[in-house]
Amino acid sequence: MPAYPEGQVAEIADMADHVSLNSVSQLLQHGAAFRRHRPDIHLGLRINPGYSPVSTDLYNPCSAGSRLGTRLLDLERGFGALEQAGLEPDFLHCHNLCESGADALAQTLAILARDFGPWLHRVRSMNLGGGHLMSREDYDLEAAAGAIAAFKAQFPHLQLIMEPGSALVWETGYFRSKVLDIMETEALPVAIMDSSLTAHLPDVLEMPYQPRILGAQMQATATHIHLYRLGGQSCLAGDQVGNYAFKSPLKPGDDLVFLDMMHYTMVKTHTFNGMELPSIGVWRSNGRYELIRRFGYSDFESRLS
Ligand SMILES: Cc1ncc(COP(=O)(O)O)c(C=O)c1O
Repeated sequence: MPAYPEGQVAEIADMADHVSLNSVSQLLQHGAAFRRHRPDIHLGLRINPGYSPVSTDLYNPCSAGSRLGTRLLDLERGFGALEQAGLEPDFLHCHNLCESGADALAQTLAILARDFGPWLHRVRSMNLGGGHLMSREDYDLEAAAGAIAAFKAQFPHLQLIMEPGSALVWETGYFRSKVLDIMETEALPVAIMDSSLTAHLPDVLEMPYQPRILGAQMQATATHIHLYRLGGQSCLAGDQVGNYAFKSPLKPGDDLVFLDMMHYTMVKTHTFNGMELPSIGVWRSNGRYELIRRFGYSDFESRLS
């Protein structure tokens, strides 16, 4: 979190032994309280290395004017105050990648060593954040290991921490939706689904990207001649996703199975417009579907009143 509300410090300290603060002022504001609640806590400072390979600003923690992480200049300016208060960070934290490869990790480590070297000698660990897509088929694990080893050789005292999220669930998770109606428009026919892009797959609209659908293609081909736009159930005009081509015409009741929907999907769903949250279940390898949780109107109502 870029800034912690004072009232949450004790609760966070009960749960976490490693807490990263986003600015020198946050460390000064909360450092003593965190240590009081949990004397063995590791407090860190998130830094902004000024480098990110991510081209979409929404996912780029180092875009111009970013609020995420302390710049080198501000660390240099603020360190004296931290020393004076006895609140030197135990670790530095840098999260600047997103679905990135080993080359971006190597470049990050080179920049950290070049620009933050003196500060790295003053802390016990370096948290390299997430965004390392190490489970992707083409991720160069050897290159990553080599870059880490070279960095460790320069800073042997440092414990290195990585916190990949997406990599743990890459290419997993199905989002199953049904066609409710087919609308003719002056452009393409639109298949209205029993789900919503904005409520259930918001990342698709925010990034934006077009997710893959089982058995569908992104454009009409010799085998997939039936082209549709897919639309959601909410009142939002832009609650739709690009075009998909199918082998047979769509009809109400047909399944649409979106692929690779675990990361940034389950956690971002919401009930805008009174949309029902999607049920959560496990699809066993023997083909059985096991329902884990179904949500209903009372879940929506209880959040609003
Ligand atoms: C500080 C931090 N660590 C880790 C992650 C996880 O990133 P990813 O799921 O891309 O590996 C994020 C995601 O934004 C993050 O902000």
